[in-house]
Amino acid sequence: MDEIYLDIMDSQLGAIRRIAHFANSDGEAAKEIVPLPELVWGWGQKLSGPLIMDARALSGPAKMISELVELAGNSDLVLPLRVENELIGVLALRAYGEGRYNQGDAELLSTVADPFALALANALSYGEVLRYRDTLLDDNRFLRSELVPRLGDEIIGGNSGLRNVMEMAQQIAPLSNTVLLMGETGTGKDVIANAIHFASSRKDGPFIKVNCGAISESLIDSELFGHEKGAFTGAITEKRGRFERADGGTIFLDEIGELPPQAQVRLLRVLQHKEIERVGGDRAIPVDIRVIAATHRNLEGMVAENQFREDLWFRLNVFPIIVPPLRQRREDVPALARHFVEVKCREFGISSPPAIAPGVLERMMNYWWPGNVRELENLVERELIRYRGGQLKFDSLLLDEKSAKTPSISEELTGGAINLDEAMAAHISKVLKMAKGKVHGPGGAAELLGINPNTLRGRMSKLGLKYGKRT
Ligand SMILES: Nc1ncnc2c1ncn2[C@@H]1O[C@H](COP(=O)(O)OP(=O)(O)O)[C@@H](O)[C@H]1O
Ligand SMILES: [Mg+2]
Repeated sequence: MDEIYLDIMDSQLGAIRRIAHFANSDGEAAKEIVPLPELVWGWGQKLSGPLIMDARALSGPAKMISELVELAGNSDLVLPLRVENELIGVLALRAYGEGRYNQGDAELLSTVADPFALALANALSYGEVLRYRDTLLDDNRFLRSELVPRLGDEIIGGNSGLRNVMEMAQQIAPLSNTVLLMGETGTGKDVIANAIHFASSRKDGPFIKVNCGAISESLIDSELFGHEKGAFTGAITEKRGRFERADGGTIFLDEIGELPPQAQVRLLRVLQHKEIERVGGDRAIPVDIRVIAATHRNLEGMVAENQFREDLWFRLNVFPIIVPPLRQRREDVPALARHFVEVKCREFGISSPPAIAPGVLERMMNYWWPGNVRELENLVERELIRYRGGQLKFDSLLLDEKSAKTPSISEELTGGAINLDEAMAAHISKVLKMAKGKVHGPGGAAELLGINPNTLRGRMSKLGLKYGKRT
């Protein structure tokens, strides 16, 4: 014997994979993977005892394989390794020169078939266990970081201000269709997305959230779709993307308006074909997912300005749900305030929640909450941090009420000289009123002013003008 090989029959590759090799001489290293034609594969499965391979006396599949393993001028003695009747690999001996093995050698070798087969089977299943373990660890770490802070969510206003929204959510939850949540920041889009997932048949599957605006543009493709080993500098191992992790569950694409163009193309493909391709990979991986997307931006407007793909918009907009701003459901404010006082007290270890001073709830209901529910939550939190006993007065709300007033110089431009910014603010306010608060689209303020809606929005926020407010 001059060389010895331990090979496995890799049914995923349809190939022989040589996992160990030893040679007396320091000849050329053998090919690591030897793909087999189907005919040869089928023939190999049927091998029973040891096989003497002599290049001069072979035909059919045996001849084909002898060429693949470069038998010419050598002799091979091949021992099939079977476990529970399945061929899992072979032990192959090679001697230089032709006709070197005889029946006696074959019989001798067959005595080690069982121990070798067992050892190989153990090694293979061990490798498989390691792979599963890595996948599970990976998922576990990920799920823990994503899910834990979300436990204990409760939806306030489901029967009042959010009634319509909740009805729609319940209606579509059992289906697997794409959902688009639209609404200002802090209105509760995350909460609704969660509710949809946990009311669906996918509730025991993963719920994976991606904030499209929080991942750098250069990483977003690999984060979403995963990458193969070596796909780019730094890709030292293969990585499953969030779509793959969401398999069997829901993927929540938050701030979808921030998705860069290239990722938009890839996302469209996922929605169309329900399969993904890793960065640097060339095979499609099927995924069973539901997509929920959310944005506070006007996607339709972004489409008009070529910032968002129209075809993707059509795909996403199949079932839009608009989560109304808090100022349009003032009736929810008292319940939300009470809810947050309770939750935050528990969090801060305050044993009995203090009372809210008279008049405060009314003031809260009249305030127009540009930051919506989140602003209310933060307000309660700040109040409780400063709490020193007695009733909760929410004095800081008074300050917000003042600073949030829209500039009132707009009415008449008579009187003393005003600077250019003030004049501009006044004019924009006036036009906004004419357009009934609409910034973008036909009849919107941007059109009336003859400027790009984004430019207008930029100016408005610089001038401290709020938009979306009903005037
Ligand atoms: N209806 C609601 N009931 C209870 N808490 C809510 C409700 N809506 C929003 N919240 C809370 O307000 C905060 C902001 O909501 P979130 O879903 O993150 O808003 P968005 O995703 O629209 O910016 C979160 O802490 C959320 O738990
Ligand atoms: Mg959100």
